[in-house]
Amino acid sequence: MSVLSEHLIEEIKELPAKYPQPRSAVMPALDLAQEELGYLTPEAMTEVAEALMLDPGYVEGVATFYTLFHHEPTGKHRFYMCTNLACMLRGSDEVVTRLREAIGVRGPGEVSKDGMFSYEEVECLGACEYAPMCRIDHRYEYDLTVVKIDQIVNDCRLPRLYQRTASAPRAASADAPRPKPATRRAPRAKKTDGGAISES
Ligand code: FES
Repeated sequence: MSVLSEHLIEEIKELPAKYPQPRSAVMPALDLAQEELGYLTPEAMTEVAEALMLDPGYVEGVATFYTLFHHEPTGKHRFYMCTNLACMLRGSDEVVTRLREAIGVRGPGEVSKDGMFSYEEVECLGACEYAPMCRIDHRYEYDLTVVKIDQIVNDCRLPRLYQRTASAPRAASADAPRPKPATRRAPRAKKTDGGAISES
């Protein structure tokens, strides 16, 4: 019996036609599988390989190379906290400490008791101008403070509220002038209508 749903396998089979190189579909396919299961099991990776007609070893190699793919259970909402230089200089340590307290975990990889949250520390996410920042699920949140982390965590517990907060107009920083996104836009980051930016 498949671990991935029939619907998802059909969706994965359609992916290669969208790329000049069919192999390019492997990452979005793994992403879809991870979205459905929460993490990638060996069986899921094998089914992705079969759906894409790729060598299972190749698919596993991609899945184990990138840290955004998980091989153990994670929280329903996953925080990827950038702790690289720009974010560190602008207070990521304090923000990460607050996140740990807010979701009730002792460190990266631990899942909160309610199963809602986990976090990990990652290298630069390409949005240094908005430091300190993080990715949560598929959204970027930036100009983080301990107050903003609390808001995000609380809003995640009420999904509709989180959507609204994430698209709200971005508040001006009280302690420093912020760059103009139109002229100093971060690479690999695309600003949405409002307060969050997402991966391009
Ligand atoms: S150092 Fe954090 S986004 Fe670049």
